[in-house]
Parts: sequence; C-alpha cells; structure tokens
Amino acid sequence: MKHSFSLLALVCVLVSSSLIGNAQNAPQLGKDPIPAVIKAMTLEEKVKLVVGKGLSIPGVSLGGTTDQTPDKVKGISGHTVAIPRLGIPSMQFADGPAGIHIFFDSSNKNYCTAWPVGTLLASSWDTALVKKVGVAFGEEIREYGIDFILGPGMNTHRNPLGGRNFEYYSEDPLITGKTAAAIINGIQSQGVGATMKHFAANEQETNRNTVNTIASERGLREIYLKGFEIAVKEAQPWAVMSSYNYINGSYTSESADLLKTILRNEWGFKGYVMTDWFGGKDAVGQMKAGNNLLMPGGKEQIAKITEAVKNGQLDEKVLDENVAGILQVMLQTPTFKNTPFSNKPDLKKHAQVSREAAAESMVLLKNDKNALPMSGVKSIALFGNHGYDLIAGGTGSGDVSKAYAISLAEGLTTAGYKLDKDVQGIYKNYLDDYAKQHPKKNPLQEIMNPTPYAPEYTFDKALIDQKAFASDIAIVYIGRNAGEGNDRKVVDDYELSDQEKEMINNVSDAFHSKKKKVIVVMNIGGVIDVSPFKDKVDGILLAWQPGQEGGHAITDVLSGKVNPSGKLATTFPGSYKDDPSAKNFPGKEFPDKATTGMFGMRSVPAEVTYEEGIYVGYRYYNTFNIKPAYEFGYGLSYSNFSYSPVKLSSSSFDGKLSATVTITNTGKVAGKEVVELYVSAPTNKLDKPAEELKAFAKTELLQPGKSQTITFTLTPKDLASFDTNTTSWIADAGNYTVKVGASSLNIKATASFNVSKDFIVEKDHKVLAPQVQINELKPGKAF
Ligand code: BGC
Repeated sequence: MKHSFSLLALVCVLVSSSLIGNAQNAPQLGKDPIPAVIKAMTLEEKVKLVVGKGLSIPGVSLGGTTDQTPDKVKGISGHTVAIPRLGIPSMQFADGPAGIHIFFDSSNKNYCTAWPVGTLLASSWDTALVKKVGVAFGEEIREYGIDFILGPGMNTHRNPLGGRNFEYYSEDPLITGKTAAAIINGIQSQGVGATMKHFAANEQETNRNTVNTIASERGLREIYLKGFEIAVKEAQPWAVMSSYNYINGSYTSESADLLKTILRNEWGFKGYVMTDWFGGKDAVGQMKAGNNLLMPGGKEQIAKITEAVKNGQLDEKVLDENVAGILQVMLQTPTFKNTPFSNKPDLKKHAQVSREAAAESMVLLKNDKNALPMSGVKSIALFGNHGYDLIAGGTGSGDVSKAYAISLAEGLTTAGYKLDKDVQGIYKNYLDDYAKQHPKKNPLQEIMNPTPYAPEYTFDKALIDQKAFASDIAIVYIGRNAGEGNDRKVVDDYELSDQEKEMINNVSDAFHSKKKKVIVVMNIGGVIDVSPFKDKVDGILLAWQPGQEGGHAITDVLSGKVNPSGKLATTFPGSYKDDPSAKNFPGKEFPDKATTGMFGMRSVPAEVTYEEGIYVGYRYYNTFNIKPAYEFGYGLSYSNFSYSPVKLSSSSFDGKLSATVTITNTGKVAGKEVVELYVSAPTNKLDKPAEELKAFAKTELLQPGKSQTITFTLTPKDLASFDTNTTSWIADAGNYTVKVGASSLNIKATASFNVSKDFIVEKDHKVLAPQVQINELKPGKAF
C-alpha cells in the first residue's frame, strides 16, 4: 500500500512538472508567431477557442463550456474561453448598437450612456457627428473593460414593421454604410472592436431563426449587402456577426459564399466572424463556412466539432484557419494588451455628446407659419403618456443599461417653461398606478418580452378645452417601442390607436379654436402612419428614440436653441399598404413542418420573398410615382437655403467626375443644410430606379447670408448596377443626370454628363443565387 502510494506521488510529480515545463516552454500569443501558437494547441484547445464560454448573466446560465474561470466583465452577453497556458485571454463582448448593455447584479451597477438609436443617428447625415459619438462610445467600452461592442446593427429598413428597425440606419445602403463606417471608425479609434451585424438580409424578427430570405442576386448586391460592403471597405470592423436567417436556402452562418467569397475575397474583410447567439444549426458547417466563432457557445458544439475532426469530416486545417482569424484580432484587444480600465468613464461628458447628437439629428417634418421654434411661449400643455416617460431606445439586446432617461416634461421644465400642473399630475398618477399594477419582470424576461406600456390616457374633452385657455401652446407626444424577437403590428402600432387619434383631434380643435398652436413630437423607433394628423397640427418634430438625454435634446430643438438639420433616412409612406414589401412581410410559415427547436421552443419553418427587388423605400416610391407622406431625404430647418446651379468637372465621364454646388443660408437664423446628390442613370440593359443617392454632405453651421461650396466626387461604381447575367457591375452608355437637392423629391439643381460606351466596373462571383424563380418587381410590370 505504502509502495503504491509513493508510486502515485511520483507519477503526479512527473506529470505536474511536465505540465509546468510545457507551460513555460509553450509558445505565447503575442510573443510567438500565431502559427506556432496554433501548432502548440491541442485539438481540445482549438475547439474551446472557436466555441464561446456560454451565456452567463445574473440568474441565467446557458450553453456553458468547460471554462469555469470568473468573467472579467460580469453580466455581458458573451466571452471566449481563455487558454492561459498559451497566453490566450478571454475576450469580452457586450451589446449593443445604442449603448452598452450590462445585466446588473448587486455587486455591479456600472451605468452606461444611451446614445440616440441608429435610425436617429442616420438622420443626421453627418458622418463627423456620428464618428464623435463613436469615439465617446469606444472610450466607454474600453473603460468598462470590454473588447467588442455587438454593433452597429446594419440591416435595411425594408418594411416599417421591422421590430429592430430602430437599431438599423436606413432604407438606403449608402446612408447605412457611411453611418456605420463613421461609428466603427470612432469606436475602433479607442482600441476596442466593433461588430457589424446581422450579416445579412435579416430584415424581420418573425421566425428569425428559421426564415429563408429569398432574394435576387441583384437585390442582395445593390441593397442588402451594399451597406456592409461600404463599412468593410471604409472602416474594417474587427468582427462581423452572421445573422439568424437563411439566404436562398443556406443559413448565413453556414454560407461560405457569404462569409468567404463575398466578405473576405471580394471585399477584403480582415477580422473574424461570430454567429448571432445560438444562430444556425450545423457547428461543423459553420466552421467550414469560415464562421470563426460560435456564440455564446455550448457543449454540444464542442462535441460535434471535436468528433468531426476526429472522424475526418472536418479537416483540422479549417479549424486552424478559424482559430488564426480569432487570434489575429485578439492581439489588438484591450484584454490581450492588459489595458487598464477604470469602470469610470466620463458619463457626464458622454451625456453631452448624446444630447448634441440627438438634437442635431432630429427631423422637423412640418412647421406651418413658423409654429416652431416656440417664441413667446411660456406655458405648455403636454399631452401623451410618453411626454412624461421618455422612450430612450428600443428593447431587447438593443436596450442600454442607462442611469436615467430625461422626459420631455423634465427637459421643458429645466429650460424654464411652465408645464400645466393639472395635466402633468393626471399623467403622473395614471403612469404610477399602471407601473404598480404591472411590475417589471426579471431582466432577461424584460429583454425578450418587455412589460407593455400603459395605453394612452384618455383626457376629458372639457378639461382639454379648459387647458386651451390656460396654456400658450399644446404639445402632443406620440410614443412607440419595439425590439428584438417581435415585429410590429399595423393596428395600434404602425397606425395610431383610437385614443391617440382622439387626443390629437381634441387637442387640435381646442387649441386651434383659441388660435393656439399644436405641435406633435414623435418619439418612435420605426415609421408610423402620420396621415391622420399631418394636416391637422401646426408642427411635427420627429425625435425617433433619442437616447437618455432625449427630453433635453427635444427641448433644444423646440426652443430654437438648436436649429433642426436632420433629414429622413427612411420614407414615411402614405399608408402601410403602399409599401412595396407589405405583401411579402413577414412572409409565409409552414406550421405543418414545425419542430421543437432551441430551448424546447416551437420552431416553424418560414420564408419571405423580397419580390420588390431593388425597389426598396424611395427607389420604389419615386420610380413608381407613389406619393409618400414624407419622402426620403426630407426635413425642414428654421432657416432657408438656396442652391447654386451644379457644376460638373466634365460633360463626359472619364473614370471620375466631380459635381460642385454652393449652398447659401437665405434665412434669418444660423443653420446647417444636408445636401443630397442623386444620379439618374440610363436604362439600356437594366431597369433602374428613377434616381439613387450617390453622395451627401452636411454644411457647417451657416450664418444668415453665408455660403459653403461643396464638391462631390463620383466614381465608376457610382454609375454601375449589378447585372445578374454576367455577375458584374456595369455602367450603361448614355446620358446621366446628376440631381442635387434638399430631398429625393425636392431637387434644386441638375446637370448631365455622358458615358460613351458601356463598361464593366467590377466582376464578382456567382454566389447566393435564389433556388426558385422570383416574380420581381420591375417598372411597367404588374405587381
Ligand atoms: C441578438 C444580437 C445580440 C445577441 C447577444 C441576439 O439575440 O440578435 O443582436 O448581439 O443576441 O445578445
């Protein structure tokens, strides 16, 4: 017995000393070349690295791999597994696009700044401003010890009901790409990574894990991929998140066509790809497709990948490539570099940036007889629940762990306006009572299934009449929220509820009868139906979801402290059914093929066909002459601007062409103007939208009478459309019109140039072709 014990002890000593020796001699990430580190990795270690550490947030632990070491940053959405023996740390991932999301526990309440949501930032048309937000955002990410933010969200506003539209930028890929590039460049300038998501064609929440997006190659290339392409080329995000959906029959996370051929080979992406959380089905297929990292990671994926390497189904070289992709980027991360972090970002400074960005991006949709800015107004009757309860941003992973959200009531009061106390008191009691009766659920339940807001309070008409005597002006506040997991509905969401209509009607009648103005403020995450009230009220301000400083920022615009200069990056249709995607949203379900999916949930196969092709948003409305309520690119100012004739550098295109225009502030107050350049191209070979946005700029703050000259440059790709037959971008010979304007329908100056011969701008690979015939919309064809 004694003998065998000492033998065991000897074996233990030998084993542990060999391990120590191994640790001391093993190549170290950062010191030794990556191939040497990979060579030293066991199969188990490689697999550990490509499968995340599991989801562990207070009260929930899902997936769960082999790594039990404590998380560097607790309560965030994901981590990779550390391999200390090789100097490989665990990377830290946090949501999301509009600010950091942390699930707090009693030991951790690090509040984060809620920035304006993506849709509002995009309405700035001001990439310098967006970059400024990115810089502050990046600093905050770094100061909380996080390596990657899971944003920006870059899917397309295909349909007004998209539940996550607030996280995304626009219906137009140029705005999407440029805005994303600006925020990524800002974030990454602080030494932390951005993750552009959800790649790609993930424009709905209904059946998000099962839906097959059926889209034409041209539609994908020109609309749904284009924004991502611009962002990769102009900002090189450190990471990409593949989406939940299929494209033309393949899960995006399992599509080498998407993740290798397009993303890496054609566009030159240098970072790595992670799945969306629990996305896709086939871990081995994901490895083969170049989806480097499976998030949040689970034991089953580890087992499957390990097994596949062992039985030869997965070449270990493929695994090595995926590992290399992750390690390459890891070298830049704060965790790898041991960058100190304070847990104390400058939240005060960031709040200022958030307020500025919000105010600078809001869109003034209507301003009859200069109803705004409020002049001579001292007392205000503020109607609408959310005037007292700001919707800073949307729900789900796009929500932010903010310390506060300033309501418009607070904003107006702080700025010295007198709010009607009776009205305020009624709302306060109503909202307090509702909150007591509807206590919030736990944070995870709230994220996926938020407690609904109180229905709009119905005011007594007599009381409104009385208030029209007492107050100088009425503000009617309309709020909407949505988020991950669900799309919006038409009734009582896209359309106003009966209570909201009644509120606007009664307030308008009462105040107008006293010759007082009525302003509507829209605090919404997605487009709503403005037709019932747009002709009834005097002013409409679109605040979208403005972040935590919203109430101050809205007040800045209403008071005239900030002259609005945002413009619509998304069309407001005349009615929902006018939207070209309405007949194909959210697509078809196949309930008879339902199975049990993730976490025992019912999983229903589904498909959606993007029959509208490239005719998304204004590309549709303008080409098919359907009048929207407010068109793409539209937005008013408290000033006026004149446009000089547009001057082209040449009347024929020879590889490059510049267009110059001078903008003058002809109004009485200082202001900024968004200048939009559209091109109408000849339609010899391919059908084309009436015009497409090819460049934009925002002037500096122009004092009255002052001018600024802006020069835009057009490159060959700006003239080209994607030709499916030849899989190439081609520019047709013929006459091109450059249209410079204040909106897509308010063109101020035009000029023409000629292309003498058709030419091919770029040849791409034949990938992602639909497996079925799509009855695509074309001008002149019944739809
Ligand atoms: C969302 C992603 C998010 C991830 C991690 C998913 O459900 O679709 O956008 O980044 O969760 O929270």
